Amino acid sequence: MKKITVAIDGYSSSGKSTMAKALARAVGYAYIDSGAMYRAVTLYAMRHGLINADGRPDEAALAAVLPGIHIDFRVPAGGGASHTFLNGEDVEAQIRSLEVSSHVSPVAALPEVRHALTCLQREYGKAKGIVMDGRDIGTTVFPDAEMKVFVDATPEERARRRFRELTEKGDSGVTYDQVLANVLERDEIDRTRKESPLRQADDAVVLCNDAMTADEQDRWMLDLFHKRTAE
Ligand code: CDP
Repeated sequence: MKKITVAIDGYSSSGKSTMAKALARAVGYAYIDSGAMYRAVTLYAMRHGLINADGRPDEAALAAVLPGIHIDFRVPAGGGASHTFLNGEDVEAQIRSLEVSSHVSPVAALPEVRHALTCLQREYGKAKGIVMDGRDIGTTVFPDAEMKVFVDATPEERARRRFRELTEKGDSGVTYDQVLANVLERDEIDRTRKESPLRQADDAVVLCNDAMTADEQDRWMLDLFHKRTAE
């Protein structure tokens, strides 16, 4: 069967990663979480004092250190799903915090950051047989992807899911209202930035998953995948 490229884009916390991972596992493709890359660069900027007090990243300073920021995905020593590594350190847990979420969209709006990460993402996708999720995968990173999905759900439902995820991980200092505010703020910045804004590719299929169970989503994705690989 021919190998294709699968691009899954959509609003924050819409369940893209869960779906993308499940599809990759079911069909034996590689999975790349492009948002984790933006989160890792953001964590680096936070640790190195490159975010100003007003939340704006120091664009020139961050651009200067970008060549020294190395991001990759590795299966941790104990096995299981792959983790995000930043300059050789496993940062999977840190990059998922609300603090990183609250700084990531302004960092991701910087053209230098987007350029560097887009190049890396295209490297990962060179051999096809990949599922990648993010905001601009079907529009900018892989405009020729054979399967494009745009995922949407109401902000309230998305905030509920992310809040549940954070509290299940033991992040008890976070409230639902903070998560909802972050979801709305990131959507706005991601939609209105100049460079590769979040938008639905013309040839993407829209999936509104407000009322869908995980199993229903997975089946929907798999059906579309089989259609696209048979074409
Ligand atoms: O998981 P969630 O939907 O909350 O976000 P994510 O996929 O981890 O992405 C975090 C942030 O990275 C987004 O809010 C965007 O600002 C940025 N991002 C982007 O600009 N382009 C991508 N391809 C992926 C993420």
